[in-house]
This record gives sequence, structure tokens and C-alpha cells, in this order.
Amino acid sequence: MSLYSPLSAPTDVRLRPATVDDADLLAGWDREPHVIACSTDDPDADVAFGGIVWREELAAQSPVSFYRIAEVDGRPIGVMQVIDPRREPEHYWGDIEPDLRALDIWIGPKDALGQGYGTRMMTLAINDCFADPAVTAIVIDPLASNTDAHRFYRRLGFEPVGRRMFGEDDCLVHRLTRERWEAGS
Ligand SMILES: CC(C)(COP(=O)(O)OP(=O)(O)OC[C@H]1O[C@@H](n2cnc3c(N)ncnc32)[C@H](O)[C@@H]1OP(=O)(O)O)[C@@H](O)C(=O)NCCC(=O)NCCS
Repeated sequence: MSLYSPLSAPTDVRLRPATVDDADLLAGWDREPHVIACSTDDPDADVAFGGIVWREELAAQSPVSFYRIAEVDGRPIGVMQVIDPRREPEHYWGDIEPDLRALDIWIGPKDALGQGYGTRMMTLAINDCFADPAVTAIVIDPLASNTDAHRFYRRLGFEPVGRRMFGEDDCLVHRLTRERWEAGS
């Protein structure tokens, strides 16, 4: 068990590939206030991620940018994005070193927050990323204002490396090295 796992980590969280059939599910979660709040500092926003068109986003998945749906006993409760930030075509991370992965995560239904599911999802995804021996570190870009998420990531071993603007989003980039993850496992 990872040192970073909570005392009562659920064991029944499963990550499966997302498909275009998940578009309505994700669009519904985009209306949840906690999902909107993690995607923008705009207090007037009423939808997360600028109203992303999930059917198109999911259809465009590739080996360098894809989504996973987390399920607990068959119920979808969250989603993760996994990208190779150097190779994904939108170059969201700009000029960045090779052999990294970038993750994003959110829990959809409000009643699934704070149950340990996010920790379990991250543990599964981090292990998947580092299963590729070339991957040296994982980066993540929570809004600088999302201090709850910072605490969550730090508990997993991520360390803040600096503020950075992504478009209009003021973020605090965090990084988890392979060495640190393996030392905590
Ligand atoms: C961040 C998130 C994925 C963590 O998953 P989770 O299942 O709620 O987390 P766990 O139960 O494993 O761990 C609880 C910790 O999550 C963090 N957390 C972040 N946002 C939270 C929220 N809205 N509700 C509860 N916990 C939250 C806290 O650090 C909390 O620890 P605390 O008890 O010290 O406050 C989830 O809370 C979430 O989806 N939050 C909203 C979206 C978001 O902020 N995503 C990150 C974008 S960078």
C-alpha cells in the first residue's frame, strides 16, 4: 500500500476507457458547482471547461491524450485525463521536456466527493503512467485558487513547482517524480 493512501482507501474503484457514449454523463457533471469551480476562477461561469463539446473531445482521443471513467460498483463517479504533454497535438503545456505525463481529475456527483475515490483513482493512474519505464515524472495544473486540490495532490507526493498562466487560468503547477512515488510505495 502506498504511504500516501488514506487509512480507508476503497478497493472497488475501477478505471475504464471513456467513449463517446460518455459525452452526456460528462456534460452533466460540467454543471456541478464543484466541477465549474475547479475549471475557472470566473464567478459567473455556469458550465465547466468553457462548455467543451464532449462528443468531439472523446472522439479525438489518441494514445497521447485520452480519458478514463472511474466506476464504483458499476456507477460512474469521476473522470481522469491522461496526456503526454510533449506529444499531444494541442501543445497545451507548450515547450516541455519529453517523457512526462500530465493528469487531470474530477469527481462528478457531489455525493462521491471526499470518500477516498480520488486518491484511489490517482493511485491507479499514477501506477499506469509509471508502468512505462520511460516516464520520469507526472505534472498537474490545478488553479492557484484550488487549495483543496493542492492539499490532495501534496498528500499523494506531488510538489508545487511554480505559478503559471495557461490562457486566462492562473495555475500552480505540481510535479511528482518517479523517485518520489517509488519511495512512497
Ligand atoms: C480533488 C478531488 C479529485 C479529490 O477526490 P476526492 O475523492 O474528493 O478526494 P479523497 O476523498 O481521496 O481525499 C479528500 C481530499 O480531497 C481534497 N478535495 C479537493 N476538493 C474537494 C472537495 N470539493 N470535496 C472534498 N475533498 C476535496 C481535499 O484535500 C480532501 O482532503 P481534506 O479532508 O484534507 O480536505 C475531488 O475532490 C474533486 O473532484 N474536486 C473538485 C474538482 C477538482 O478540484 N479537481 C482537481 C482539478 S486540478
